[in-house]
Amino acid sequence: MSSRYAVILAAGQGTRMKSKLYKVLHPVCGKPMVQHVVDQVTELGFDEIVTIVGYGAEIVREQLGKKVAYAVQEKQLGTGHAVMQAEDVLGIKEGTTVVLCGDTPLITAKTIENLLKHHESQVAKATVLTAYAENPTGYGRMVRNQDGLVERIVEQKDASEKEQEINEINTGTYCFDNKALFESLKHVGNKNSQGEYYLPDVIEILQKSGETIAAYQTEDFGETLGVNDRVALSEAEAIMKKRINEMWMRNGVTIIDPQQTYISTEAMIGQDTVIYPGTVISGSTEIGTECIIGPNSEIKDSQIGDSTTIKQSVVYDSYIGANVAIGPFAHIRPQSKINDEVRIGNFVEIKKSTLGKGSKASHLSYIGDSDIGSEVNFSCGAVTVNYDGKNKFLTKIEDGAFIGCNSNLIAPVTIGKNALIAAGSTITDDVPSEALSIARARQTNKEEYVKKNN
Ligand code: UD1
Ligand code: CA
Repeated sequence: MSSRYAVILAAGQGTRMKSKLYKVLHPVCGKPMVQHVVDQVTELGFDEIVTIVGYGAEIVREQLGKKVAYAVQEKQLGTGHAVMQAEDVLGIKEGTTVVLCGDTPLITAKTIENLLKHHESQVAKATVLTAYAENPTGYGRMVRNQDGLVERIVEQKDASEKEQEINEINTGTYCFDNKALFESLKHVGNKNSQGEYYLPDVIEILQKSGETIAAYQTEDFGETLGVNDRVALSEAEAIMKKRINEMWMRNGVTIIDPQQTYISTEAMIGQDTVIYPGTVISGSTEIGTECIIGPNSEIKDSQIGDSTTIKQSVVYDSYIGANVAIGPFAHIRPQSKINDEVRIGNFVEIKKSTLGKGSKASHLSYIGDSDIGSEVNFSCGAVTVNYDGKNKFLTKIEDGAFIGCNSNLIAPVTIGKNALIAAGSTITDDVPSEALSIARARQTNKEEYVKKNN
């Protein structure tokens, strides 16, 4: 097999997005568009991948990292000009080069592979990935001659009325003989309605010099959607979402309403887990088997054990064990570790804390910067007072302790094993193991007080 290279165009600003964020960085199912393209391309093991950066170059580089090489396009003079910037890296090499756009996030490794195979089997100098579009507006159109052979590509803005009726579009993904590509780019001009150097013009140049041009039409237009504005962005999101959800359903996950369920491309979900509507599973979240997630829950970058339930709750960057019940209406903030069989009930917030096996905080509590043992009961309204306005302090609660309703544990403080804190206590000093601690004013009843004062 000859060498294979890829060039990914990602230098444009994306004016039509009307955004501060550069177009190719807009996320689809939580992942920047250009990252989707790079991930699919890297699956195929190219010898070299060159990303063309310009607008927001630093941020794009930061996003994509060292897996790809970069070439800078200082001025955005068009897609042909963009590819030219890779000449220093690729120009003289023998092999096949695939060019892709950073704004086509739905393209798959399989389709790129099929395109390469078609290109090789046709012994073509260039092969265009095309698609049939019901509404081709905005795309370059494939102009074919009477024999059905590709002659050239005409852009929407340069197309005659007749050409605008063509439904076969240029998807913006191509395969080229590498040397022929860079040679013909030298002949591309900018005399068109946008004053740009168009990459698609290479097709006409090669065709006119008698080279073989092929086209590979995908059946799935959705895969080739180019995102130029936020309407297309939402279409891409819908297609990607459907793809991800169907993959999980085929793998044994029940998704009650796939329209209302949002799962990132990185997430992992175990068999027989049921996901209710309104759920967002993002980042590199891993969910075990037989869990019940949602309705209306958001879980980000977290690990969830088997048979755990998370209802109407938010979990960020945390570890949750097996057989845990969370919610409704709980908030688990970063760096929390909630071990097996814990119960976290309504209006409980947990931040940077560990809860040991079987502990419970069933109602209205705040637990922050705490290390809590197993089988601890945090009663209704009990809170850790971890912050004095300047610094954060730690609370330690040993196994089996019982923290009564509405008590305040003023950190730093340690509550010993099996200790009992009376309801309404404000605890400022350590409590020894097995002790009962009461820290509240005594009740006084003033007999007949109300009657006398009327
Ligand atoms: C392009 C094609 C069009 C095709 C469509 C598919 C051209 C002239 N037209 O149109 O035939 O149907 O894609 O989606 O190629 N870019 C640069 N530098 C530039 C200009 C663009 O890096 O100077 C990058 C952009 O960041 C983007 C990609 O190239 O990722 C495509 O550019 P865009 O302006 O979106 O082209 P389209 O008008 O969509
Ligand atoms: Ca585009």
